[in-house]
Amino acid sequence: MTSANDIAAAADALKRGELVAFPTETVYGLGADATDDRAVASVFVVKGRPAFNPLIVHVAEAEAAFRLGDFSGEARRLAKAFWPGPLTIVVKRAGDCPVSLLASAGLPSIALRVPDHPMALELLRAVDRPVVAPSANPSGRVSPTAAEHVRRGLGNKVAIVLDGGRCRVGVESTVVSFLGERPTILRPGGVARDKIEAAIGAPVAVETHAARPHAPGQLASHYAPHAELRLHAEAPRNGEVYLGFGGRDFGPYNLSRQGDVVEAAANLFRLLHDIDATGAAKIAVAPVPHHGLGDAINDRLKRAAAPREAQ
Ligand code: TXA
Ligand code: MG
Repeated sequence: MTSANDIAAAADALKRGELVAFPTETVYGLGADATDDRAVASVFVVKGRPAFNPLIVHVAEAEAAFRLGDFSGEARRLAKAFWPGPLTIVVKRAGDCPVSLLASAGLPSIALRVPDHPMALELLRAVDRPVVAPSANPSGRVSPTAAEHVRRGLGNKVAIVLDGGRCRVGVESTVVSFLGERPTILRPGGVARDKIEAAIGAPVAVETHAARPHAPGQLASHYAPHAELRLHAEAPRNGEVYLGFGGRDFGPYNLSRQGDVVEAAANLFRLLHDIDATGAAKIAVAPVPHHGLGDAINDRLKRAAAPREAQ
């Protein structure tokens, strides 16, 4: 089992940008510092996720969540009714939200939760930063509800696996979005719908899988830069801001000067955002190789470059 020393070591590892698997009441999570683009990118690598789905951000206190997102009174009420517990709330990112845009998959929203597990809470307090944590299993496989599942699935890809025994709930948290006109369940989970409706005092909507914004095809319509994108560009033309990769480097913006696709994934959304903020009308993007996370990067770039009507 896990000691206080192990938790301190895990918190240090998270602060260094490493991944730590830890127990929650729902399933084991694969944790990374949510404010560290590169650490968040490595979550996608270790899970073998083909696309940048948005991730849930975990914090130790509701107050911390209220600072990271814009919570309405109704959203706060729901949080207070079920946190700590198997409920995730999706709201708009706060203006000064320090969480990596990659964790939000480029969306203007953020998913937050306070887990109900003493070890998870102790870890979150010790690290004192928001932590992204999808289930600690390879993409497409069953979620882990014991430390040995994590070791079997991810083996030596995770430095530290905190062992908190079997997960109490065993299915992921219920995800409720407050982005629309009324609260909407995006993913059924550990808190049943009728309990949520009782806490809110009104019926909630339920969106089917197809309507969920994390499907890769739907992300594009949520995030595309204002600027027009030209892909596979060897060099910038007149009037274009260049987004480089590796040795193709013209100006201040480069996804990864070392030509590392993991670093490029970590930087992608943030750099597009930065270039957009300059008011640039045209962005030329260097070719990005397809290996590893390169596939996901190319997919996202292709969608961002597609004619807006077609999205
Ligand atoms: O029980 C859980 O929630 C587990 C444990 C480890 O805490 N975590 C978990 O995390 O399942 P994750 O990152 O795999 O959950 C991702 C889900 C997506 O499928 C999506 O439904 C929702 O959270 N989500 C995250 N960010 C979102 C956003 N900005 N907008 C809409 N949905 C979002
Ligand atoms: Mg999962």
